[in-house]
Amino acid sequence: MKRKGRLLLVFSTIAILVILFSQCMDTSKNMKATETSIAGAKTCVQCHKDISNSYLNDVHYAASSPVENNNQIKLGTDYVYEYDKNLKVAIEKRDSGTYQVVYFNGKEDLAKRFDIAIGAGKNAYTYASWRGNILRQLPLSFFNQINGWANSPGLRTSSPDFGRIIDSRCLECHSSFIESNKANNGSLIVSHEMLKSSLVYGIDCERCHGPAGKHVEFHLKNPDEKEAKFMVLYKTLTRKQRVDACGICHSGNDAELLKSTFSFKPGEDIKQYYAHVSSAQESQLDVHGQQNQMLEASKCFTKSNSLECSTCHSPHDQNKGSLTLYSKKCISCHATIKHTQKTLENAMVKTNCIDCHMPLKPSKAISFQQAGMSDVSPYMLRSHRIAIY
Ligand code: HEC
Ligand code: HEC
Ligand code: HEC
Ligand code: HEC
Ligand code: HEC
Ligand code: HEC
Ligand code: HEC
Repeated sequence: MKRKGRLLLVFSTIAILVILFSQCMDTSKNMKATETSIAGAKTCVQCHKDISNSYLNDVHYAASSPVENNNQIKLGTDYVYEYDKNLKVAIEKRDSGTYQVVYFNGKEDLAKRFDIAIGAGKNAYTYASWRGNILRQLPLSFFNQINGWANSPGLRTSSPDFGRIIDSRCLECHSSFIESNKANNGSLIVSHEMLKSSLVYGIDCERCHGPAGKHVEFHLKNPDEKEAKFMVLYKTLTRKQRVDACGICHSGNDAELLKSTFSFKPGEDIKQYYAHVSSAQESQLDVHGQQNQMLEASKCFTKSNSLECSTCHSPHDQNKGSLTLYSKKCISCHATIKHTQKTLENAMVKTNCIDCHMPLKPSKAISFQQAGMSDVSPYMLRSHRIAIY
């Protein structure tokens, strides 16, 4: 009897725990549903046609994509990368897709398919392959700078390395959503499993504008309303808030996360997401991924209260990439400049401020190994610390 009672107690405790736990999970699910109320990028086009169409050419849109028709595999699939004369990785097209295939002493050893491309390919593409619910990087990446393949940054260079896990962290900056088991709230569960089918490729409208479910619902019901409702208005945000809306992805990726950045909304402070954001003064700043801190370290930023990312960039700008256009932004604040005679003799001085004041610099975090070379190749990006170099 006593034993039965104890068993009953144990069972009922378990039952209560199970109920509590499942409710816990349920509420978190519900919270997600109401908190995010995502409409999806496809709904925006009905009312924002031009912006939606031009956005298809923006790198954010293509920051990750499925490798389906080999658009992201630019150079012939007959390429072979030699680690040494007995160990090679070939890129081969097969019936079920394109693969990176390891050959050891001429015999096939391992083959993994290109499933996902990460990056829009502006400077580089890196690729990943699903194994069950785990995504792993492929050993070879493509670099435009050399118009060719090289060993993926950060991977072992002596032999092909298929081990590196691409977790949700990569995808928090390169996609719009993926469901993962990864603990991001201090809990002890450590898992890199992700729900493949939940991946929303690319960075969509609502990552920068916040969940727009209510906005869409309202404007569908009220087609005559010309003022944006239920939408964060960038023009009403402070400079700090506007810069943070980019900084959630442009302040570096080594900082410890407090929670998933998928839930970030414009207007929020990135300090609610990052345990530590390296400041503009810290010397370790890198041209890769830390555009925010580099810019904040410039006199143009500290001595003006208007300079921000969107002074020079907008994902909705059709005119991208011309150094002359960027230089016009400089001149809008610097109408008269005290250049010495020697500087004035340089032909660029009127039309290209960028190459002197925002020079290309090698990243400290990324470099890549080309086959048969003893030194690594630098990965060049713009320095966002605008200064006299
Ligand atoms: C049924 C029509 C409709 C749909 C669908 C819609 N919007 Fe809007 N949106 C409007 C109207 C109307 C305005 C106000 C006029 C304007 O700025 O174009 C607006 C304005 C905006 C603004 C500008 C706010 C500002 O700074 O002035 C943003 C940003 C925006 N919408 C984002 C979105 C996104 C993202 C989606 C898709 C998830 C979306 N909208 C879907 C009707 C719509
Ligand atoms: C969700 C993360 C995320 C947010 C938010 C974000 N970016 Fe980006 N941004 C990226 C990633 C990832 C890339 C690299 C895309 C690629 O080439 O694969 C990128 C690339 C860029 C580029 C390079 C464009 C080019 O043509 O080379 C610019 C400029 C840029 N972002 C500006 C901004 C600005 C300005 C904001 C804020 C209004 C912003 N980003 C917000 C993730 C983000
Ligand atoms: C904190 C945000 C962030 C994280 C996390 C992140 N990236 Fe990026 N990534 C960027 C930004 C911003 C750029 C573009 C500019 C630059 O290099 O600074 C970029 C550029 C790239 C590019 C070059 C894209 C192009 O069009 O040239 C590749 C490839 C890439 N990232 C792969 C990865 C992989 C793989 C991971 C995970 C191991 C990762 N990134 C994690 C923000 C991020
Ligand atoms: C990388 C971040 C980013 C992404 C992605 C993005 N936007 Fe924007 N959008 C901005 C910023 C920043 C502004 C404000 C620009 C400014 O103030 O100069 C803006 C402005 C707007 C405006 C108002 C400006 C105008 O000219 O009417 C609309 C509408 C808009 N976005 C809709 C969209 C839609 C629709 C998508 C997806 C197809 C989208 N945005 C994707 C950052 C983004
Ligand atoms: C929003 C206005 C604004 C824009 C846009 C701007 N700057 Fe500046 N810049 C300033 C201010 C303000 C200062 C500080 C002047 C002072 O100290 O008297 C400054 C300082 C500088 C300096 C001196 C830096 C030093 O360390 O002494 C250089 C060089 C410079 N800017 C170049 C540029 C270039 C090149 C661009 C375009 C890529 C640019 N600026 C865009 C406002 C701006
Ligand atoms: C004064 C103008 C200016 C401002 C402000 C500015 N950028 Fe840039 N940015 C540039 C120029 C110029 C380039 C190089 C474009 C090119 O080479 O085609 C660039 C390139 C980039 C790239 C591509 C990486 C690379 O090195 O080519 C990213 C990402 C980027 N900017 C993000 C940002 C973010 C985020 C902010 C705000 C923190 C910002 N930028 C503020 C002028 C600016
Ligand atoms: C050939 C390289 C070069 C080019 C191109 C160039 N600068 Fe400079 N800039 C310098 C140097 C070097 C200095 C330091 C003074 C000197 O030696 O002339 C300087 C100084 C400055 C200063 C600080 C002096 C002051 O007037 O406060 C500003 C601002 C500036 N440049 C802005 C620009 C702008 C804007 C452009 C484009 C219209 C530009 N520069 C083009 C090299 C260049």
